[in-house]
Amino acid sequence: MSETTKKYTNGEITVIWKPDACAHSRLCWTQLNEVFKPKERPWVQMDGAATDRIIEQVNKCPSGALSFVYNEEQEAGESRVDAESIVEVTPNGPLLIYGNLTVRHPDGREEKKFKTTALCRCGGSANKPYCDGTHRKNGFEG
Ligand code: FES
Repeated sequence: MSETTKKYTNGEITVIWKPDACAHSRLCWTQLNEVFKPKERPWVQMDGAATDRIIEQVNKCPSGALSFVYNEEQEAGESRVDAESIVEVTPNGPLLIYGNLTVRHPDGREEKKFKTTALCRCGGSANKPYCDGTHRKNGFEG
């Protein structure tokens, strides 16, 4: 799987989009269409809303395809820590982890997550360890 990553900034934060991880929940563009415009290029237009509103929407992305970093912290090489992590087991769906975490892959690669991360619990995701929405198709119960 490719590791395509797109970045969009307003000078304060940078929204990071990983298209391969996108589960196409449509939450972003149905709830904040001033910023997320899938029919336009670039499809993320950072001048469409205030930073706090963009962060709020990015934090609702269930697949983890959308994330953000504060530009100051990115430049300093730091991650933002606001609270302890919370793990939520969703009915018939993924584990949702709220908070900052580091995902270490078998090849040693590490990914930093700063918001809600959905981890596959059904075993069917093509983007493990993350949920890609396959649990809705394979009838996962648990
Ligand atoms: S839990 Fe969503 S794809 Fe497995």
